[in-house]
Amino acid sequence: MLQIENLRVAYLHDNRRSVAVRDVSFDVPTGATVGLVGESGSGKTTVALSVMRLIRPPIGDIEAGSVRLDGVDLLKLSNKAMRTTLHGDIGYIPQDPTAALDPLCKIGRHVDETLSPKIPKAERRALIISLLESLGVRNAATRLGSYPHEFSGGMCQRVAIATALARGPKLVIADEPTTALDVTTQLSILRLLDAQRRERNLSMLFVTHDLAVAQMLCQYVVVMYAGEVVEKGPTAEVIQRPRHPYTRALVGAIPQPTDKSRARLRAIPGQPPAPAQDRVGCPFAPRCPLAADACKVMPELKELDGVEVACWKAGVEEEPRVVAETR
Ligand SMILES: Nc1ncnc2c1ncn2[C@@H]1O[C@H](COP(=O)(O)OP(=O)(O)OP(=O)(O)O)[C@@H](O)[C@H]1O
Ligand code: SF4
Ligand SMILES: [Mg+2]
Repeated sequence: MLQIENLRVAYLHDNRRSVAVRDVSFDVPTGATVGLVGESGSGKTTVALSVMRLIRPPIGDIEAGSVRLDGVDLLKLSNKAMRTTLHGDIGYIPQDPTAALDPLCKIGRHVDETLSPKIPKAERRALIISLLESLGVRNAATRLGSYPHEFSGGMCQRVAIATALARGPKLVIADEPTTALDVTTQLSILRLLDAQRRERNLSMLFVTHDLAVAQMLCQYVVVMYAGEVVEKGPTAEVIQRPRHPYTRALVGAIPQPTDKSRARLRAIPGQPPAPAQDRVGCPFAPRCPLAADACKVMPELKELDGVEVACWKAGVEEEPRVVAETR
């Protein structure tokens, strides 16, 4: 189980700190997938990278909080212990597998490099073949010697998933792993990830800007806006009855099957605030149809029917201003 508490992360530039993630707390239970959703720039990747302790000076700084994996605070581990955890307990699936795989390294070797050299070679080979086959790479034995450019994007993503799973991690972090793929391949990769989650009882942190994808895959969702969690809870609850005006806007932006063109997406008018050191009041206020004087004070997360929401008017039913349509 992954437990993130009060995480605060800043990027550093020109002797200034801009806080990209503030006071973020949520759990990823064992055997469950949690979707981290929100618009571009909301801080999803920053949270994912912070769990792996990949944000450090001079780029950025994890200023506060804790990240516990099965009770152990990863932020307090020595560098050596953290490297061991990263290679053993955490698997990472990137957004663009074709860019993440070394073009000069054969497919089999990519997976082999994550396995312990103490395992006999023939045993490693058998393990890699069986893993790749279980992930939908047919005739894997004959394809171990292929290079990434000989594989399609979907096949490369299967190899990246095999690399993430080979050492039997407890936690898998996937950052937009299907965004670069066509819709059919996206669906089969999502099904595959879900099957692996069940089979291996994995905790999975799944980053996506697409609430429809989260709806398909995740048992829980955490909605981020401008670096903060604004709503979190069981996926069905959050999506069927969003309490925060921003979540309502995101849900309203999910393309419906009745839309004339699948390529047609609804946009939320306005822009989120830029990362800053300090913040006063609700960050969504300039875009919120319900904004009032009370919103000049920052709302905190409060429990409401099993869901946590940071909004003074949580649950007030009113159509948000999600009307602009763009191509
Ligand atoms: N290396 C960096 N240096 C400075 N600021 C950064 C850096 N990386 C991200 N940021 C800023 O931090 C904020 C959060 O970015 P992040 O990449 O975590 O968002 P995201 O939700 O993953 O967005 P996307 O959906 O576009 O991937 C943004 O305002 C972004 O501009
Ligand atoms: S606190 Fe106010 S401004 Fe913020 S989302 Fe709720 S109603 Fe809108
Ligand atoms: Mg990102």
